[in-house]
Amino acid sequence: MKNLIPAYVRVPVFFFIIFGAIEYFIDSGDRAAFIKYPMVDVILVVVLLLLIAIEMVISAADNIVYQLLPEEEKERLKAEEELPLKESAWFKNLMNKLTKTVPIENEGSLLLNHDYDGIKELDNNLPPWWVYSFYACIVFAAIYLVRFEILGADNQEMELKKELAQAKIDVEEYMKNAPDLMDEKTVTLLTDPEALAQGKEIFANNCAACHRADGGGQIGPNLTDDYWILGGGIKNVFHTITNGGRDGKGMVSWKTNGMKPKDIQKVASYVLSLRGSNPKDPKAPDGEIWKEEAAAITAAK
Ligand code: HEC
Repeated sequence: MKNLIPAYVRVPVFFFIIFGAIEYFIDSGDRAAFIKYPMVDVILVVVLLLLIAIEMVISAADNIVYQLLPEEEKERLKAEEELPLKESAWFKNLMNKLTKTVPIENEGSLLLNHDYDGIKELDNNLPPWWVYSFYACIVFAAIYLVRFEILGADNQEMELKKELAQAKIDVEEYMKNAPDLMDEKTVTLLTDPEALAQGKEIFANNCAACHRADGGGQIGPNLTDDYWILGGGIKNVFHTITNGGRDGKGMVSWKTNGMKPKDIQKVASYVLSLRGSNPKDPKAPDGEIWKEEAAAITAAK
């Protein structure tokens, strides 16, 4: 057979097939295996050297065999080498196998013995490439039918739905473990004393100036009563602290001021823990009375 693909194509192709296989089979998380494990690089270099070595050995062996051939064999090989691809013996052979055509000289043997106003019919073989593709289609169809219509495997739509559902779960899981990505939808009320103590410290440092150290209210409203201008409950309070109050009222966005969602959660939880603490001389209530149940009902609507 003629050397159709030169070595400088063959070596990289084999190399990248092996490279791809390594990446496919080695579980290296979100980084490529060859970056994560330096050992893989060593293996790849060895593989590359081996491929080159194999090519060299084969070509040397070919050369020796060629030198040992008798003169007329050499001539024959050379002639073969010089033939264009379509004329070469193996190509003709391959075509013959795929199509089973009868040479035009022997066409007579295929003539069916009927004749319609001079139109005759040849009884050619079906080309094997076509016949086998057809069989493959039948096998495919049978497997497909059993798998999807009888055993009820997931179709594309179902697969997509499942993947989306899984993705949602993954995102929720991720949000839980990445508190800095928390937003008012995922925030939860903290009740452990340690978090509340940290919240108290944040409050004393940043908020007491306007809301008073006990939350009784001064420039900012009383945070200890049941009345809320911007909504009570952890989600609203978190939202207010994150994004600030109404324009021009003095309550800034603490997110813009560089407070981390995790800290906002703590200070918000602390603020809510002040409910009903009845500080001395509180500011008069602002806003509307807030009921958690009412909020739950509105949210469910
Ligand atoms: C510069 C003064 C100022 C500072 C500092 C300040 N606030 Fe306020 N805060 C206000 C004002 C004024 C309002 C009322 C906003 C409105 O009416 O829209 C308010 C509203 C609020 C509300 C909503 C109250 C309601 O009734 O809906 C919360 C919760 C709150 N502040 C918490 C905090 C927290 C926590 C901090 C510290 C991180 C803080 N504030 C710092 C002035 C301040």
